[in-house]
Amino acid sequence: MEKVLIKNLKNHVGQQVATEGWLYNIRSSGKIAFLIVRDGSGLMQGVTVKKEVGEEVFADAKKLTQESAIKVTGIVREEPRSVGGFEMQVTGLEIVSIAHDYPITHKEHGVEFLAEHRHLWIRAPKQVAILRVRSEIEHAIRDFFYERDFVLADAPIITPAACEGTTTLFELDYHGEKGFLSQSGQLYNEATALALGRIYCFGPTFRAEKSKTRRHLMEFWMVEAEMAYCDMDENIKVQEEMIYYVIQRILKRCANELRILERDLTKLENIKLPFPRISYTEAVEILKKAGEEFIWGDDFGAPHETLISNHFNAPVFVHRYPTEIKAFYMKPDPDNPKVALGADLLAPEGYGEIIGGGQRLDDLDLLVERIKEHKLPMEAFEWYVDLRRFGSVPHAGFGLGIERTVAWLCGLDHVRETIPFPRLLHKMYP
Ligand code: 4AD
Ligand code: MG
Repeated sequence: MEKVLIKNLKNHVGQQVATEGWLYNIRSSGKIAFLIVRDGSGLMQGVTVKKEVGEEVFADAKKLTQESAIKVTGIVREEPRSVGGFEMQVTGLEIVSIAHDYPITHKEHGVEFLAEHRHLWIRAPKQVAILRVRSEIEHAIRDFFYERDFVLADAPIITPAACEGTTTLFELDYHGEKGFLSQSGQLYNEATALALGRIYCFGPTFRAEKSKTRRHLMEFWMVEAEMAYCDMDENIKVQEEMIYYVIQRILKRCANELRILERDLTKLENIKLPFPRISYTEAVEILKKAGEEFIWGDDFGAPHETLISNHFNAPVFVHRYPTEIKAFYMKPDPDNPKVALGADLLAPEGYGEIIGGGQRLDDLDLLVERIKEHKLPMEAFEWYVDLRRFGSVPHAGFGLGIERTVAWLCGLDHVRETIPFPRLLHKMYP
């Protein structure tokens, strides 16, 4: 008998097929049991009629506890009232294992409790939907780059120096030498871009953030692109095309998941290219007009970002931030060195910054000066400075935070649900 995923039952109407899954819920009377089965791809109702399956199978069905592992066979039929629109007339049931009392019942649970049981919580239909959207987003990003001839060049996780400031480093003992978990693959991307042209890396990055917000994780996944012979404007263009590509892909491929998540699709469907672009200075004007007391030169906080993006009701690029508040590697604008040729992309609906990027400082002497100004250890950056000695070119790149992107596209209020096992401040269990 053919084994099928629950999400594909629709292709097997009238056929007898087998599914493998777990009992999500059960309702039963003396003669009939409705098994709600989940298999990771969806939910299905299995209608088990005593006089059809016989005493023994029916008795087995009644033994099932929530999350018991089962193999169910039956004939598929269309049933608009049933979960997923299709159901199975059960013909056979095999118990693989009977579950103990499952802690996550069908009543409401607090977030603390759910977080403690994250290893089980991820089985809930909403969590499954989120993780499936995440997977689709990651695939879409890889396809986007693949179709555009970017080379996937993995960056190291263990590094000898900081990329994004020394205050958020996770330190480790590298056989007696001090090492750090990578905050960003960017510096290595700059090297691989000079070797390969256009590249991206995709991996976990780490920040010992002291922040307990709905946007911060200690460990998050970042996709980072880097392009040789590229300026800030071209860089921004690649980013908006990538985001647009990802949105179209999930609208097409994740309709079911987005419905489970009750995502307002019009918000995503209405996003059009190009995205608005404003300078930091213009953004400050918007804040002031909205009555905020904001001083030019300060960094935006989450409420500022929300105010700015609400002004456009679209993803918006904010470019030319003050050089002072940006990383050492950013190229100051030759027309006004007080600002840097970097841009952040702010997501709509209050999701804040999802991309940080910009043109890199390609001048040898200026770069050395900036490394010293930032009191970074020159020895650890010699190799990076070499990139300006040997064939330096204008180049640019960016980093997209996967979890914030998933939170936005799924319409979630916290990044903790966007990754199977979030690493939060003072929380690394399970
Ligand atoms: O703006 P960031 O710090 O930029 C960089 O790391 C650059 N070196 C990237 C590059 O140009 N190659 O981080 C980039 C993105 C942010 O916009 C945000 O989406 C995400 O990474 N991010 C976080 N996501 C979750 N938790 C955190 N603690 C994050 N810190 C940054
Ligand atoms: Mg940033």
